[in-house]
Amino acid sequence: MRQLIDPQSSLTRAAPPRNTQAHESAVGHVTGRASYTDDLHQPAGLLHLAVGLSPSASGRITRLDLAAVRTAPGVVRVLTAADIPGHNEVGAVFPGDPLLAEDSVRYHGQPIFAVVASSLRAARQAVTKAIIEIDDAAPLLDPVEAIATHQTVLPKHVQRREHNRVVVAEEQRDKPLARLESAPLQVAGELFIGGQEHFYLEGQIAMAEPWEDDGIRVLTSTQHPSEVQKLVAEVLALPLHAVVAEVRRMGGGFGGKESQAAAVGVMAALAVVTTGRPVKFRMPRETDMKVTGKRHPFHNRYQVGFDHSGVIQAARIELIGDCGHSPDLSAGVVDRAMFHASNAYYLGDSLVIGHRAKTNTASNTAFRGFGGPQGMLPIENAIDDIARTLNLDPLEVRKRNFYAPGRDVTHYGQQVEQHLILPLVEQLERDSDYRTRRQQIAAYNRTSPIIKRGLALTPVQFGISFTAPHLNQGGAMLRIYTDGSVLANHGGTEMGQGLHTKVCQVVARELGIALDDVRISATRTDKIPNTSPTAASSGADINAMAARRAALTLKERLFEFARRHYDLEEGTLALEDNALTATTLAGAPFRLAWAELIQQAYLNRISLAAEGFYATPKIGYDPTTARGRPFFYYAYGAAATEVEIDTLSGEHRVRRVDILHDVGDSLNPAIDRGQIEGGYIQGLGWLTTEELKWNERGQLMTSGPSTYKIPAYSDAPIDFRVSLLSGHPNSEATIYRSKAVGEPPLMLAISAWAALRDAIASLDGYRSNPRLNTPATPEQVLLACQAMRAQVANQAAAAPSEELP
Ligand code: MTE
Ligand code: MOS
Repeated sequence: MRQLIDPQSSLTRAAPPRNTQAHESAVGHVTGRASYTDDLHQPAGLLHLAVGLSPSASGRITRLDLAAVRTAPGVVRVLTAADIPGHNEVGAVFPGDPLLAEDSVRYHGQPIFAVVASSLRAARQAVTKAIIEIDDAAPLLDPVEAIATHQTVLPKHVQRREHNRVVVAEEQRDKPLARLESAPLQVAGELFIGGQEHFYLEGQIAMAEPWEDDGIRVLTSTQHPSEVQKLVAEVLALPLHAVVAEVRRMGGGFGGKESQAAAVGVMAALAVVTTGRPVKFRMPRETDMKVTGKRHPFHNRYQVGFDHSGVIQAARIELIGDCGHSPDLSAGVVDRAMFHASNAYYLGDSLVIGHRAKTNTASNTAFRGFGGPQGMLPIENAIDDIARTLNLDPLEVRKRNFYAPGRDVTHYGQQVEQHLILPLVEQLERDSDYRTRRQQIAAYNRTSPIIKRGLALTPVQFGISFTAPHLNQGGAMLRIYTDGSVLANHGGTEMGQGLHTKVCQVVARELGIALDDVRISATRTDKIPNTSPTAASSGADINAMAARRAALTLKERLFEFARRHYDLEEGTLALEDNALTATTLAGAPFRLAWAELIQQAYLNRISLAAEGFYATPKIGYDPTTARGRPFFYYAYGAAATEVEIDTLSGEHRVRRVDILHDVGDSLNPAIDRGQIEGGYIQGLGWLTTEELKWNERGQLMTSGPSTYKIPAYSDAPIDFRVSLLSGHPNSEATIYRSKAVGEPPLMLAISAWAALRDAIASLDGYRSNPRLNTPATPEQVLLACQAMRAQVANQAAAAPSEELP
C-alpha cells in the first residue's frame, strides 16, 4: 500500500526551528479577524464604482453613448477621460497607460468609462447599458511577429562579454559570437514560456474619501503606496501633500499590485472629487483578470557552444518579452530576465539580447521573480540538452558549469563573490539521494511502458536589489510611548510575506523588549514619504535595516540619558529582557525596567521618536555600457523534483520535492520556510497548470477559476522536504546577515519542468531533446510524448535492428 505521507516529509516533522515567531497576523488570517481594505470602515454616503470595458482589442472608438447609463437607477455620476482635471496617465515609469481610454483602445478589457452609483449592484448593472462602437483593427497578439514588425514598447537591450571583458561599445555588442561558431559542439532551440495570472486572493481594491479641505485619503491594496499617492495627485492636479495613501495589508500581491493597483486607487479618487463623497472600487474577479496585466509571456531562443566534457564556451540567448500594450514595468522585467539568462552558470563568451514586444493585451507587469524565471529557463533547457547530447547526467553538466573562482564574472560584469552554489547543490544531491534515485528511476522506466518517471535537480541564483538603483532606499519611524510600548512605521507593505513580523523582531531585538511591545500599523505615505514599492524581495533588506537604524538612534539617546542620570559606567549599558542593565560608577550592578526607563526619559524631556534611513551600498549598472553591479548579492537555492507522467494522457504529478535554500542567517525560519514552500508551489502552477488563453480577437478566455487552474491543496507534493542552508551568513552586511527570500524560491519549480522533460526523454533512452513549452500542461506533455514516439518509430524504420524502448 502506498504510504501517503513519508515520515521524512516536512509535513510530519513538527519540531519548529528555534527563534521562530509566528506571523503577526497569523491568528487574524486563520480566524478571519484580520481586516482587508474591503472590511475597513464604511463611511456614511459611500458610493460604489464599476468600469465599462473595451469590447475590442484594438481600434478607434467611433461611438460612445452613455445616455442610458446616466439614467440607470442609482447612478450618481458617469466618468470619462474628459472628467480628469490633471493628466490622463497612470503609467508606472513610462507614460502609455491612460486611466480611461480616449479615442482608441489597445486591449480587450481596457477601461473606457466608469459609473459611480449608490450600490455596487447599481453601478455594475448601469455599466451594461452603454453603447460602444469600435472601428476594429486586427489585434497583434504574437510577440515574435511584433518584434519582426518593430512593434515594441521600449528599445531592445544587448549585453555582451567576450575574451573576458564586457563589451561596452554599443555598436560592437550585437555581432555574431566567433567562439559560438567555433565551439566543438552546439545545442540550439526555442522555447515559449507562458504568462501567469497573479490570482491574489484579495482582488484589486481601493476606497477613497475626502480628507481635510481639498485632500484625498485612499485606503488601498497596493505594494506601492507612494505611487498611488503620486498618481492620484497628478491625475487630480493636486500637490502630493494633499493626498495620503494607506495600506494595512494585502491579501496577496505577488507583483500584481506593484504598479497596477495605482489605477484602481486613482479611479476611486477621481470619483471622490467629482461627487464629493467617499467611493469604493472593487472589481469582480473576471474583470480584474481582464483589466490587469500578468507575468510576461516570453519567446526565447538559445544557441550554446560547448566542449566534449560539457563545459559551455559560448552562448547566445535572445529573449522576447511580451509586454502587452504599454511599457508599465517592462523595462525592468526584461532587464531582469537578461541578468538571469546565465542563472548559476558561467557562459564564457556571451551575448544576451532582450526585446520588449508590444501586443494588444493588458500591460504585463511584475510577478514574483520579475522576469528572472523566464530568463533562466533557456539555459536550463540548454544544459539538459547538452547532457543528453553527451550522454552525461544533467547534474554533472550543471556542476561543471557553475560560477566558480576564476570563472565568476557574469555577462554584465558583476563578479560572483559568495561561491555557495556548488556546496549547496552537493549537499542537496546527498540529502535527496539523487544518484540512487536516478538509477532507480531509469530501472523503473525500462520496465514501465506507459508510466514514466523523471527527476531533475536545478539551481537558482537570484540577484537581490532593484535594478533601478534609486529604488534601493527605505525609511522607518519609531515612537516609544510613556508606557514603554513602541509603534513602528516603515515604508514596506505587508502582503502575507511576513515583513511586518520581521521588522518588529528587529526593533524588539535592538531595544531588548518583547515582540508584543512592538506594533506596526498601516503603511501610510504621511508617515514615511517617497517609499519604494515592496518588491524585488528587498522589503526586509531595506526597511528592517532602516528600522534598526531608528532603534539604534533611540538606544543611543537612552543610554546617554541613563548614563548621566544614574551615574553609570560608560560601555556597560545594555538593553535586554525588558530592562536596562549596567554597572554604576561605584561598581555596583544596576537594573531598571524598560517601562521605568522610558518614564524617566520622558520626564527628563528626552525625545522618544526617531527616524531611520537606509540606502543599499555598492550597486550600480550602466545601461549605456551594459556593465555594472546591479545586485548587492545573490540568493541561492536548489530543488530536486521527481515527477511521474502518463504517456498516453500526458497527465502528471509531482512525487517528491527536496529543497535546500539559502537565506543567509534567517530573520525568521518559519516565515522563510513558508515563503519557500509557497514560492515553489506558485512556480509549479506557472510551469505546469496555469494556462492563459486569448482568442483571435484578443479576448482573454481564461478569466476565472473554472478555466484558469492555480495549484490546489491536492497539487502540493505529498513528500515535500524543505531545508534552510545553515552556516552561511550573507557575505554582505545585510540586516543580521540575512538574505531576501520572497521571490527566489519560485524558480526552484524549474526542477519540476526539467523532470517532466527527463521523463519524456526516457521514451527514446535519453538520446534526444524533447521540446516542452510552458505551462507543461497534460496536453503539452502528451504532444511531447507523441513527438518523441514518432521520432523513435522513424529511427526504428531507418535502422530496423534497433529495439524499441
Ligand atoms: N508572499 C505572500 N504571502 N504574498 C505575496 O503577495 N509576494 C512576493 C513575495 N512573497 C508575496 C509573497 C513578491 S512578488 C515579492 S517581491 C516579495 O514577497 C515582496 O516582499 P519582501 O520584499 O518583503 O520579501
Ligand atoms: Mo515582486 S514581482 O518584485 O512584487
